[in-house]
Amino acid sequence: MTTRTTGSATWAVPGADDMAALGERLALLLRAGDLVLLTGPLGAGKTTLAAGIGRGLGVRGRVTSPTFVIAREHPSLAGGPPLVHVDAYRLGGVDEVEGLDLEASLEEAVTLVEWGTGLVEGLADDRLEVVISRPEGAAGADRLDGDAPREVVVTGVGNRWDGIDLAATTQREV
Ligand SMILES: Nc1ncnc2c1ncn2[C@@H]1O[C@H](COP(=O)(O)OP(=O)(O)O)[C@@H](O)[C@H]1O
Ligand SMILES: [Mg+2]
Repeated sequence: MTTRTTGSATWAVPGADDMAALGERLALLLRAGDLVLLTGPLGAGKTTLAAGIGRGLGVRGRVTSPTFVIAREHPSLAGGPPLVHVDAYRLGGVDEVEGLDLEASLEEAVTLVEWGTGLVEGLADDRLEVVISRPEGAAGADRLDGDAPREVVVTGVGNRWDGIDLAATTQREV
């Protein structure tokens, strides 16, 4: 497994709609076999970004925070790869991740894992790491009902992301 970092980009994301729009733009970069890790505290906006990625990929069903289901596959309505969305928050460790058998769909799907850092890196040599932070002192950051700025750092790890300008690609209009 490589840990080589190939490039990263940072965005200031003012509101929830902007987070979803960023997800739609990131989806332009994604193809079957890709692994994406979403990291950030509860309420950071991981699922909001994942929903935007789902919209960008043109998959069926809304990407939501699963209450009981830990991994859900959303088939493509656009002839592209399905999205496998995983919320690893309740998982106890690597053993339970193995129980999900994500390998089975990895090659043909885009696999997106919330809270997956330290659990799923072994699935693939390459991955896109997305870290969302909620600035502590920012106005509105403690209000769950209002938009508050987030910072999003996206880093490509491994050969897959070699030479891909993450910032330029995702600045394209959706
Ligand atoms: N800039 C922002 N980016 C993303 N979500 C935001 C932002 N500002 C406010 N929110 C709100 O924060 C919440 C994020 O929830 P969610 O995406 O489920 O987080 P997570 O999956 O990281 O726990 C949503 O209610 C969303 O509307
Ligand atoms: Mg979530």
